[in-house]
Amino acid sequence: MKDNIVTIDGPSASGKGTLARNISKYLGFEILDSGLLYRVYAYLYNCGVEHSQITKTINQDITFMSDDNGIVVLKEKNNITDELRKESTAKAASKISAIPETRENLLLLQRGFYTPKGLVADGRDMGTVVFPNAKLKIFLNASPEIRAKRRQLELQNRGQEVNMLALIEDIKQRDLKDKTRKLSPLIPAEDSIVIDSSEMTPAEVLSFTKKLTKKEFNK
Ligand code: DC
Repeated sequence: MKDNIVTIDGPSASGKGTLARNISKYLGFEILDSGLLYRVYAYLYNCGVEHSQITKTINQDITFMSDDNGIVVLKEKNNITDELRKESTAKAASKISAIPETRENLLLLQRGFYTPKGLVADGRDMGTVVFPNAKLKIFLNASPEIRAKRRQLELQNRGQEVNMLALIEDIKQRDLKDKTRKLSPLIPAEDSIVIDSSEMTPAEVLSFTKKLTKKEFNK
């Protein structure tokens, strides 16, 4: 028996977050943005929290909430979402995600998001390592240039200006690190369906995915 889970893996800005939000709403499943957990991890570590204390600190001090723009993260009462979405935090998350202790600490925490109602989990290793028994596994890809354009728009909407060439270079560097690290590298699970969203609108990606969920979940 496979688990009631849709995993969506892929590189940054491939459209995973948007697809995860839309498909979780459509199916009525819970959602896990694992990249955000890695960002929270890096943020806390940079604030001086030791690896051994991070799971406890996340459970005690961090709250994940939803609003119209997506997930909002509070540390005690402070909204740290903008800080977490910065490219500097993304880089720190990519670096710390290659440390075995980080991945070990986050493994159980991520699995704890599963409820029998169902879960949509997006990240890099959701289908390969964290939820290998998921019913539907998607690997979403797009060219670095298209992803940089999407990330630029997202950052501009948050009031952050960025240099396009630097962004493309950052994305390529981060891809390389994520794909070549020893632990949980960014690769499609053998039983995943690979979608290249370079030439697709979010609505087209959603509509294609709904055909897959119809088959797997009858929804
Ligand atoms: O999806 P994101 O850009 O928010 O992720 C930030 C970093 O976290 C990414 O560069 C690599 C790491 N990450 C990971 O190693 N495994 C995951 N499942 C999700 C993210």
